[in-house]
Amino acid sequence: MKIKIVDDYEEMSRQGAQIVIDQLIKKPSSVLGLATGSTPVGLYKNLVEAYARGEITFSSVRTVNLDEYIGIRNDNPNSYHAFMQKYLFGKVDIKSENVNIPSGTPANAEIFCKLYNLTLNNLPRDIQILGLGSNGHIGFNEPGTPFKERTHVVRLAQSTINDNARFFSSPEEVPQSAITMGISDIMQAKKIILMASGENKARAVKDMVKGYVTEYCPATSLRNHPDCIVILDRAAAKYI
Ligand code: GLP
Repeated sequence: MKIKIVDDYEEMSRQGAQIVIDQLIKKPSSVLGLATGSTPVGLYKNLVEAYARGEITFSSVRTVNLDEYIGIRNDNPNSYHAFMQKYLFGKVDIKSENVNIPSGTPANAEIFCKLYNLTLNNLPRDIQILGLGSNGHIGFNEPGTPFKERTHVVRLAQSTINDNARFFSSPEEVPQSAITMGISDIMQAKKIILMASGENKARAVKDMVKGYVTEYCPATSLRNHPDCIVILDRAAAKYI
């Protein structure tokens, strides 16, 4: 695990994006594993700007997203489908058939997870982008999730519901469950970029980089990855 500490969110986003930009220049048909949440918004903004300058194209990029809430439709503004459309897909030349995001309304969630695993098997990721939950989760792999787990349905931790309530009009509206890629799926990516900013991530960052490798802090699994870059702003790096 390589750790970079930068001044602020803007610099974190710029450096994270530059790794992706370099990858897309080197291999325009790259497979990207994508994350949602506040953390990667700045990275996506940098990618959109690089695309607008003509430095990169998404015309042959394929993507797989980490997770989606269960029970909200794709057109719900709080869905991760809508998030990706708003911050990245709607602003670049990616082909919709090259985009993969777990369904928020699967007819059968268990079967859906199995199919998503087949998609992941067929799309080895060159880069996986990650944020970090304040409880140490990655994707929606909550504390206690076995590292060997693949795509699965998860009941969200109360702390995650509280953290994510800021996006909804009330905490009651936050879905209680989600579909997430598993830790073992995340670990399959050739390169992982985890970003974290702000003091509310500082404890989880400390556990991730200094604590025991344990399923009770899912992000500690990344210490076993051969090419994981962690980019932190000063506030998130407060305790390391
Ligand atoms: C969410 C997402 C994660 C994200 C994390 C942090 O619940 N499922 O993929 O990394 O929590 O979110 P944020 O970046 O908004 O702090």
